[in-house]
Amino acid sequence: MARITYDDETAAAFKAVREIPRDGLGHWREAIRRHLNPMPGMTVTDIGAGTGVFAAAFSDWFGLRILAVEPSAAMRAQIPRRAGIRVLEGDAGALPLPDGSADGAWLSTVIHHIPDLEAAAREIRRVLRPGAPVLIRQGFPGRADWPSTWWVHRWFPETTRTVETWPTVEQTCQAFAAAGFSRDSLEQIPETYRTSLAEFLAQADTFRRADSTMRTLTEEEFLRGKERLRRAAQAAEKTPSPEPRTSRLDLLVLR
Ligand SMILES: C[S@@+](CC[C@H](N)C(=O)[O-])C[C@H]1O[C@@H](n2cnc3c(N)ncnc32)[C@H](O)[C@@H]1O
Repeated sequence: MARITYDDETAAAFKAVREIPRDGLGHWREAIRRHLNPMPGMTVTDIGAGTGVFAAAFSDWFGLRILAVEPSAAMRAQIPRRAGIRVLEGDAGALPLPDGSADGAWLSTVIHHIPDLEAAAREIRRVLRPGAPVLIRQGFPGRADWPSTWWVHRWFPETTRTVETWPTVEQTCQAFAAAGFSRDSLEQIPETYRTSLAEFLAQADTFRRADSTMRTLTEEEFLRGKERLRRAAQAAEKTPSPEPRTSRLDLLVLR
């Protein structure tokens, strides 16, 4: 069971406000290149592919063949249908892929939704070729100074409460170790949002629908956060060229 239901309304909200624009993903592109060593024709499975933002990016950046596995029909419906991307119904615990058929696995902000991480790790081991990497893009509890690294937390600090219930780096590595993977590297990768604070304020209700950390806020916490955001947006209007918002998520690589 995912932490939230990815129904039509959530999928539309995710598509509208949660996809990071491609021009904010330059550091991810370089980090993925380093760890995946992509070559045209390689097959990568994007597990919990969501609306396909990374499936499309991997395909455009590296010319890879992407197997986008996603359990929610509403999210799957948003994934671009085009050459190089195959969209498949499935989840991390039951991947619709043959043994040893993929050269890498990508899981972006998914592992906290997976009910049995050890079973998922075994399933990923089954579908990957020997030595192929698992790349996990994730917010791990205790790793980040959330208020300064994840911009949402700056205005809605109580969202940290939810992140703290997610698997830690150690728990994730343990689950994957049981399936025969070892930790290869862990680093924080910056990503940039160019929307103004005023735009984010206008999107806050939609964002809340699409984000599992925002969903758990009480009405009072959400309204307090919106008020902080409103004041910050007003202040930013007086700044001639406000900085784009940069945050950092972890990239954990296992092999
Ligand atoms: C926060 S979204 C991330 C989507 C996409 N990876 C991205 O970064 O834009 C989490 C996704 O994980 C999917 N999901 C939930 N439970 C899952 C599971 N057990 N296995 C694989 N994916 C799952 C959800 O349906 C949803 O699309």
